[in-house]
Amino acid sequence: MDFNLSEEQIMIRDAARDFARTELLPGVIERDEKQKFPTEQIKKMGELGFLGMMVDPIYGGSGLDTISYVLAMEEISKIDASASVVMSVNNSLVCWGLETYGTEAQKQKYLVPLAKGEIIGAFCLSEPEAGSDATSQRTTAIDKGDYYLLNGTKNWITNGNNASVYIVIAQTDVAKGHKGINALIVEKGMPGFMVGNKENKLGIRGSDTHSLMFTDVKIPKENRIGEDGFGFKFAMKTLAGGRIGIAAQALGIASGAYELALKYSKERRTFGKEISQHQAIAFKLADMATSIEASRHLCMKAAWEKDQHLNYDLSGAMAKLYAADTAMNVTVEAVQIHGGYGFVKEYHVERLMRDAKITQIYEGTSEIQKIVISRSVLS
Ligand code: CAA
Repeated sequence: MDFNLSEEQIMIRDAARDFARTELLPGVIERDEKQKFPTEQIKKMGELGFLGMMVDPIYGGSGLDTISYVLAMEEISKIDASASVVMSVNNSLVCWGLETYGTEAQKQKYLVPLAKGEIIGAFCLSEPEAGSDATSQRTTAIDKGDYYLLNGTKNWITNGNNASVYIVIAQTDVAKGHKGINALIVEKGMPGFMVGNKENKLGIRGSDTHSLMFTDVKIPKENRIGEDGFGFKFAMKTLAGGRIGIAAQALGIASGAYELALKYSKERRTFGKEISQHQAIAFKLADMATSIEASRHLCMKAAWEKDQHLNYDLSGAMAKLYAADTAMNVTVEAVQIHGGYGFVKEYHVERLMRDAKITQIYEGTSEIQKIVISRSVLS
């Protein structure tokens, strides 16, 4: 078993680290406070190839493996989890889904600009009454011959306002249950499509999360992804890969907070010595480092399985479950190590703690990951 990274993977990781420190760190506190989308930074990430990392270069992507994607996600998330969720949704949910299941025409029209980062995409599954229970879609896409008539509301959509292309999951034939669901490509500006209010969130406040409303939107048949009724499986398969990206985001949030706490513990002195020399702090750091390393191994295992074309549903769910809990625990401890300083914005750890929470919720709550894992181990 070889745990070494290739030269290319190291180069990608270092490039992402460098970008995060030089381009994302300045202004990250202000963007969080003002809920400001990192427009310029995302544009640069597109130019550097971070928005279509695993897409074949023939479609404008960087042609890299999932391990490189995890490395880059970790580095970006250490500094700015709002930027990394944009990156994660575009790479894992939008580009991957289109490249794997889209037609050649869909790839040329949508995937190429998405992979180049010229535009960004959104993945629209959740509804006011269908988040975890994803088969209970109320949004309808009624077959009208050469088009679908789309009606309904989607909630908590990442990139909701800044996206140009939306993959929308909707029910075509309710009698068929999950086999009557379709995935449709919707363009911003299509008549009847409205972007709703922006959510005022606890964390990842620089990302834009919106509700979306569809009223008699005509979606041409050629915008359906896959065969009729493939939409639910499309969503499940896409989310399985997305969970690796969010696991890497959680890993980055945890390791970012840990690095700050470690540094602080060597600078701050109490009772005549650096606080890292107090066992109460040293043991916290030991626990944090261990759970981060375990999260990293789970992420890498899932990424490796995906790169080997093995089934990664189980490993991705385990990685997300464990890394998200690690992000939450580690960021709470990082604030604690910082004491009163940890409670103020300039020290970054309070933001990381707020950002950590969403990793236990989106792309399947921790409880959903436990459903996936327990079904697998019991089968
Ligand atoms: N790959 C392929 N097919 C899959 C699959 C997978 N990973 N998981 C399920 N399926 C298939 C099943 O085989 C089944 O098909 P058949 O009937 O043909 O066998 C079908 O899908 C239905 O599966 P289940 O009976 O298991 O469905 P369920 O209703 O019990 O739900 C679930 C399973 C795992 C709980 C699923 O509903 C789920 O993952 N829910 C969470 C959804 C989620 O992650 N939402 C987050 C929104 S997206 C987001 O957050 C993005 C963002 O903005 C950042």
